[in-house]
Amino acid sequence: MQTPFIYGIATDKLHFTDREAETKRLKLNFENGINTIIISPRRWGKTSLVNHVADIMSDNKNLKIVRVDAFACRNPEDFYKLLATEIIRQTFSKTEEWFENAKHFISSLVPSISVSADPMNPVSLSFNSIKNNYGEDILSLPERIASEKGIHIIVCIDEFQQIGEFANSLTFQKKLRSVWQLQHHTSYCLYGSKRHLLVNMFQKRSYPFYKFGDTLFLERIPIEYWQKYITAKFQETNKNISTKYIEDIYKYVDGNSSYIQQLSWIIWSKTDDEVTDSIMQISKSDLLMQNHALFYEQISNLTSYQLHFLMALLAGKANELNKKDVINQFNLGSSANIAVIKKALLKKELIDIVGKTLTFADPIMPHWLKINLKL
Ligand SMILES: Nc1ncnc2c1ncn2[C@@H]1O[C@H](COP(=O)(O)OP(=O)(O)OP(=O)(O)O)[C@@H](O)[C@H]1O
Ligand SMILES: [Mg+2]
Repeated sequence: MQTPFIYGIATDKLHFTDREAETKRLKLNFENGINTIIISPRRWGKTSLVNHVADIMSDNKNLKIVRVDAFACRNPEDFYKLLATEIIRQTFSKTEEWFENAKHFISSLVPSISVSADPMNPVSLSFNSIKNNYGEDILSLPERIASEKGIHIIVCIDEFQQIGEFANSLTFQKKLRSVWQLQHHTSYCLYGSKRHLLVNMFQKRSYPFYKFGDTLFLERIPIEYWQKYITAKFQETNKNISTKYIEDIYKYVDGNSSYIQQLSWIIWSKTDDEVTDSIMQISKSDLLMQNHALFYEQISNLTSYQLHFLMALLAGKANELNKKDVINQFNLGSSANIAVIKKALLKKELIDIVGKTLTFADPIMPHWLKINLKL
């Protein structure tokens, strides 16, 4: 039997709901060569959306979507080699063509093909460098392949914020942008999991990627879709969940896609035929327990000011943090100190600023704090 809920990894066809408007917009951008940036809080569904659009466009012979995950890249060299490998691997479907085309299109790198025991990727392609300045060669690679094949290539780069962490990142970003913006047969879709870093890269005037493309701010999937999706998944397996419990799930995790699926899974696994109040309660505790070690570690690494700040946030004082009585009540030092704490907590990814609202980055952390700080 197919598992009814999926979380922690990007969704597949069977576990995908809504995103109708976003799918349409992304598809249109891909067809028309418009660069796109996707921004959302963590685990709302960026990667799943790009995968979904890539799936539904896979029959289109005029364009090729190449997906790259920059998560492991630590410097430009890692990034160039990753791009080279994935562009060759994904634009030439037959493994026999990889070596030949790698040699044909890239003169500055030496390709090598190896056979591995991994059944998903039995043949792997990698590169060694022979010239120091192979960057230009790789950056122009999709453009040259696209014009030779008479197609359009869309390079989708997940975890793009990694580039912002490289040494001399701004110089590198300038270089990428200056090459990418002149390409006619290649466009880019850039996204990643660290919202505040990406917002800096794309929305600050002084940064090279400012106004690089159409920025898609992903919203929460509306509850109506989850009502349909969760009800159907229960019914398909001869179980039942009433709409009030789905509303409760949605509220508890503040509409976070991944937690909705995770909590639904826990509830489903504890249900024989009908969801009850007590199943709901145990399932919520289970969800918190599953995150206990992580939250515990995150909290134990905080200074007391940072912890006090989170307590003020928990008490609903997000908009009053600069007020004297709040500073005194929560022992936050001074108003100058607030900015320092905020910056540190943003960096630790414990808080987030969405629009103008300061929130917990993780929607279930407040539930956990309430129990574990004995408030
Ligand atoms: N359209 C969708 N329909 C159903 N579930 C979804 C959808 N999008 C995301 N999810 C749920 O959210 C989880 C996280 O999705 P995904 O990895 O795509 O998010 P993300 O925004 O890329 O996360 P991150 O910020 O960590 O990169 C999935 O495993 C799935 O449980
Ligand atoms: Mg992602």
